[in-house]
Amino acid sequence: MKFLVTGGAGFIGSNFLHYMVNKYPEDIFICLDVLTYAGNLAYLKPLENKKNFRFIKGDIRDSAFLDELFCAERFDIVINFAAESHVDNSIKNPNIFADTNILGTMVLMNISKKYGVMRYHQISTDEVYGELPIDEPKRKFTENTPICPSSPYSASKAGADLQVMAYARTYGLPVSISRCSNNYGPYQFKEKLIPLTISKAIKNQPIPVYGTGENIRDWIHVHDHNVGIDMIIRKGKDNEVYNLGGHAERTNIYVVKKILQYLNKPEDLITYVTDRPGHDKRYAIDSSKIERELGWVREYDFEKGLEETVDWYLEHGEYLNMNHMKK
Ligand SMILES: NC(=O)c1ccc[n+]([C@@H]2O[C@H](COP(=O)([O-])OP(=O)(O)OC[C@H]3O[C@@H](n4cnc5c(N)ncnc54)[C@H](O)[C@@H]3O)[C@@H](O)[C@H]2O)c1
Repeated sequence: MKFLVTGGAGFIGSNFLHYMVNKYPEDIFICLDVLTYAGNLAYLKPLENKKNFRFIKGDIRDSAFLDELFCAERFDIVINFAAESHVDNSIKNPNIFADTNILGTMVLMNISKKYGVMRYHQISTDEVYGELPIDEPKRKFTENTPICPSSPYSASKAGADLQVMAYARTYGLPVSISRCSNNYGPYQFKEKLIPLTISKAIKNQPIPVYGTGENIRDWIHVHDHNVGIDMIIRKGKDNEVYNLGGHAERTNIYVVKKILQYLNKPEDLITYVTDRPGHDKRYAIDSSKIERELGWVREYDFEKGLEETVDWYLEHGEYLNMNHMKK
């Protein structure tokens, strides 16, 4: 099978390609990425000599370019990771989020439809469901939870999801959607909580934490996410949504303190800053559908996965704008 993986030079997409290109040498993987500030070709360097992998620079919003590419390559499967992904940026500049995340998705689906792909898979997020209260810990997002996004980022991802389901219903495009909780692991851009905390801690700089730090996120290791996507593509039903969670709800302040402890750094580096506007209190994902229907199991325990991730950044300081350094 021939795969088009868009946004594959970003955090999750590059980890996905590392996993898939090595696991399926008989399949061909073409990565399409426009290389925004978040994309980095160095993330794909370990794949550059693989016979079943190629990188192409290009924009998912460029219809003429995609038409030529699909005509030449005849993809079987399209997986769309490409997005503007940082909530803070969406608050400052929302328009690019609608442009890339909604219109880009539609352009990609128009061409996927024209060339009759077997499956178009959309990488979505638990943030489309909005927030859960902190004082009702048993409540979790299921695939039937109404979409109720809070930020321009999550609204753009929700808009894309609605278009994906509409393309399935209206045009018969075979689609699937995965909605995943917060990912962590190697190759995450340094703007996000875990790499940002590691980078600031190592440099003994103040670590900004929004509000009181009590907001809760459900953390999933990027490997577990990618195993789930592989299962959805190979065994999942057309036109279904699958939730993927880490079963690891932790407050932001807990995550920051854990990293400081592991690095032997003082907690007084923590600096509480004015809360993010519209900051969702809590996310929690119910993954029982994919566990039951596709047999997905997660491998990672959060605390162990976090230590492994910190160690990886210490070995790869170049991704935090630092030279290699050891703990
Ligand atoms: N990071 C998370 O915790 C998380 C959780 C759930 C869902 N998601 C979703 O997973 C996907 C990947 O997230 P990520 O954290 O790897 O993001 P990222 O910001 O690290 O990577 C996004 C990639 O998309 C590329 N891109 C952006 N605009 C493009 C365009 N117009 N054409 C082609 N490529 C373009 C960028 O260059 C970059 O390589 C996104 O759709 C995001 O919404 C992320």
